[in-house]
Amino acid sequence: MSEAIEINNVNKVYSNGFVALKEINLKIHSGEIFALLGPNGAGKSTLINIICGLTKKNTGDVSIFDFDNEKSYKQARSLIGLVPQEIATDSFEKVINTIRFTRGLFNKPNSDKYIESILKKLSLWEKKDQQIRTLSGGMKRRLMIAKALSHEPKILFLDEPTAGVDVDLRKSMWEQIIKLKQLGVTIVLTTHYIEEAEKIADRIGIIDKGKIILVEDKRDILKKLGNRKIIFSLANEINELPKSLKHFDISVDKNKLIYFIDKANEEKELPKLIKDFAHNSIEVSNIEIKENTLEDIFIELVKK
Ligand SMILES: Nc1ncnc2c1ncn2[C@@H]1O[C@H](COP(=O)(O)OP(=O)(O)OP(=O)(O)O)[C@@H](O)[C@H]1O
Ligand SMILES: [Mg+2]
Repeated sequence: MSEAIEINNVNKVYSNGFVALKEINLKIHSGEIFALLGPNGAGKSTLINIICGLTKKNTGDVSIFDFDNEKSYKQARSLIGLVPQEIATDSFEKVINTIRFTRGLFNKPNSDKYIESILKKLSLWEKKDQQIRTLSGGMKRRLMIAKALSHEPKILFLDEPTAGVDVDLRKSMWEQIIKLKQLGVTIVLTTHYIEEAEKIADRIGIIDKGKIILVEDKRDILKKLGNRKIIFSLANEINELPKSLKHFDISVDKNKLIYFIDKANEEKELPKLIKDFAHNSIEVSNIEIKENTLEDIFIELVKK
């Protein structure tokens, strides 16, 4: 099956001479949730806008299910739904009408059934006859998603879908995004929230200063980060590590012992460590396990 999106050698220089994208090569697989992570100004929106045909690239090609996004703009565009980063929603128009209208723009025949299913999925059905300006901020964001889905696209772009959205709503949006994936929609989202990528993405791309610096399966990234650590809080401060503990990957920080778990030897090492604590009269008052997160790798990569 063809890739949902193929980007080859894309460069972007804005008219003021600013180089926003450098030699971007990227494939987005059909049916996946792909998260594009990167700091402010990294080039995330520029890349999304280029794929969607809103911003012109200087060099390279982009194809959407094999349709070149410039030469076959119409076909490519009809396969895409975009929820832009900035949303304007002061309209007096009714919720349901705006969805019907957008669908019409793409020359799709009216389908009350489809529109109803989308509004229900996004928990907006009760609001269907309300004017857009009377919706809450979170509802407006969901309406933008409904609008982007109005013409039944196969790929949905969400540029910072949960920026400024409270924790509960963010979680419910994640659920909705996962539901869309289950319907077969390919999802590309940008985010600053590493947790977001960690929770819902299948693959993650990290972009910094216009360059893609990493694209990988989320599970592989987390596996690579691998090693967890256990922090033992001690009842008493110790100045130096007792001899018998020195062969463990362990460091002392006043009344804390930080043990870096070696996954391969975890089962053998841990019981031994606990025994050695007892042997050295080290009294543990608390144990905390710290899992590495994407944040760790992100900080690692971006500071380079
Ligand atoms: N029209 C433009 N003219 C000149 N420079 C621009 C233009 N649009 C964007 N840029 C610059 O390109 C760079 C990338 O911007 P972009 O909006 O793609 O970043 P982003 O990764 O989406 O950031 P954010 O996380 O803040 O949304 C920034 O330095 C920005 O100032
Ligand atoms: Mg942006």
